[in-house]
Amino acid sequence: ISMPFSEAAWLCLAVTAGSGGIILCKYKSPGQLGSWVVCLAALWGGACLLSLSLFWSLILFSLSCFLLYMLSSGQELLPVDGKAVLVTGSDSGFGHGLAKHLDKLGFTVFAGVLDENGSGAEELRRSCSKRLSVLQMDVTNQQQIKDVYSKVAEKVQDKGLWAVINNAGILSFPMEGELIPMADYKACMAVNFFGAVEVTKTFLPLLRKSKGRLVNISSTGGVFPMQQMAAYGSSKAALTMFSSVMRLELSKWGVKVSVIQPGGFRTSLGGTSESWDKKMQAVLDHLPPELQKDYGRDYILAQKNFLRVFQFSTNPDITPVMRVVEHAVSAKSPAAFYEPGRDIYMSILMASFVPTSVLDYFLKKKYTIVQPSVLGTPKNKGS
Ligand SMILES: NC(=O)c1ccc[n+]([C@@H]2O[C@H](COP(=O)([O-])OP(=O)(O)OC[C@H]3O[C@@H](n4cnc5c(N)ncnc54)[C@H](OP(=O)(O)O)[C@@H]3O)[C@@H](O)[C@H]2O)c1
Ligand SMILES: *[C@@H]1O[C@H](CO)[C@@H](O)[C@H](O)[C@H]1NC(C)=O
Ligand SMILES: *[C@@H]1O[C@H](CO)[C@@H](O)[C@H](O)[C@H]1NC(C)=O
Repeated sequence: ISMPFSEAAWLCLAVTAGSGGIILCKYKSPGQLGSWVVCLAALWGGACLLSLSLFWSLILFSLSCFLLYMLSSGQELLPVDGKAVLVTGSDSGFGHGLAKHLDKLGFTVFAGVLDENGSGAEELRRSCSKRLSVLQMDVTNQQQIKDVYSKVAEKVQDKGLWAVINNAGILSFPMEGELIPMADYKACMAVNFFGAVEVTKTFLPLLRKSKGRLVNISSTGGVFPMQQMAAYGSSKAALTMFSSVMRLELSKWGVKVSVIQPGGFRTSLGGTSESWDKKMQAVLDHLPPELQKDYGRDYILAQKNFLRVFQFSTNPDITPVMRVVEHAVSAKSPAAFYEPGRDIYMSILMASFVPTSVLDYFLKKKYTIVQPSVLGTPKNKGS
């Protein structure tokens, strides 16, 4: 008896799946769009299994159409129209790629760089359009931020600044929290957190005028605990929380806030082998003798493996990051969070739902290298 009705349900499912697919292909949009469409499909799959009545099929069908309509209207990209954007840390990596990418799309790009005489800045001047300006801006230097503000304000006049992309960041040397020098904790906070806060505070008046966008490049290191990332992760967690508070507070001004939480990509962030050696020596020179004895020299030196693993396990192609930032800057309704990188979205979901003891088991397994010497290992002759 229920046969004709479940046929109606299957038909509605086909239409929903078809339009979902078209939206996905049309916008090739990053972010949560894909998972939304998958959720809808799962909902319909369940409904069909239950062989819904015609009435419920129609209700579900209208609901799907409404959701798909909402999804697709938010994906629309606004015209570029010479909008002005500021990117910090454009010397290398994501920031450098973003400055070039946004310039190519027609934006007026202000590329803040840590060293205006460096090769990254030179490359931007050489390869980008006349619209792009390279501006000296160390995000920990208040005077330099102010100078950039005056230049940008003068150039954009009444048009306002459309977007600020807080990208500048440092990793410092990943090591166990007890061994990380206090200076490294402070440096991470200074660049990754206070730098982004100060840049944001300085430029917000221009953003409020344009009802524009704030985009922060945070990190999954600020979402779930990763060993050896105490300094970096804490600074990124602070940035993510600050951004979320700002998202609530700035909505009344029409300013939209997005946080990007990329997985591992191969940029200059990890530093070079020489810089690791130098840093390691400096750490060893200043480590209290007691810590040297407890952990053991082998163990401390093995901390360097982290960066080697990081360099090899990361993705050399940074286009996923370029795509999500472009979406955050120009989509009519940008998402609050983007997770570019393979499986990052899943990892974040897992980290929030899996019991802590299970999560810890996997997180510890992933990064454990050797044991400190006082805990005794086969590798260690001295105990
Ligand atoms: N790569 C990843 O896997 C990954 C993952 C998650 C999040 N992130 C985040 O993505 C952002 C960009 O990193 P990236 O991977 O592209 O690394 P990157 O190549 O090292 O880029 C960071 C940029 O920031 C600049 N910078 C450093 N200190 C600065 C300061 N005080 N003022 C202004 N600029 C400063 C650096 O200049 P110099 O080149 O001169 O040092 C560099 O150009 C960072 O916030 C990072 O935490 C990266
Ligand atoms: C870059 O070079 C110019 C000219 O030599 C110099 O005045 C300026 O201070 C340099 N900038 C930095 C950040 O070193
Ligand atoms: C970025 O972070 C700064 C400081 O943490 C905050 O003021 C701003 O609102 C954030 N913006 C975005 C888009 O997350």
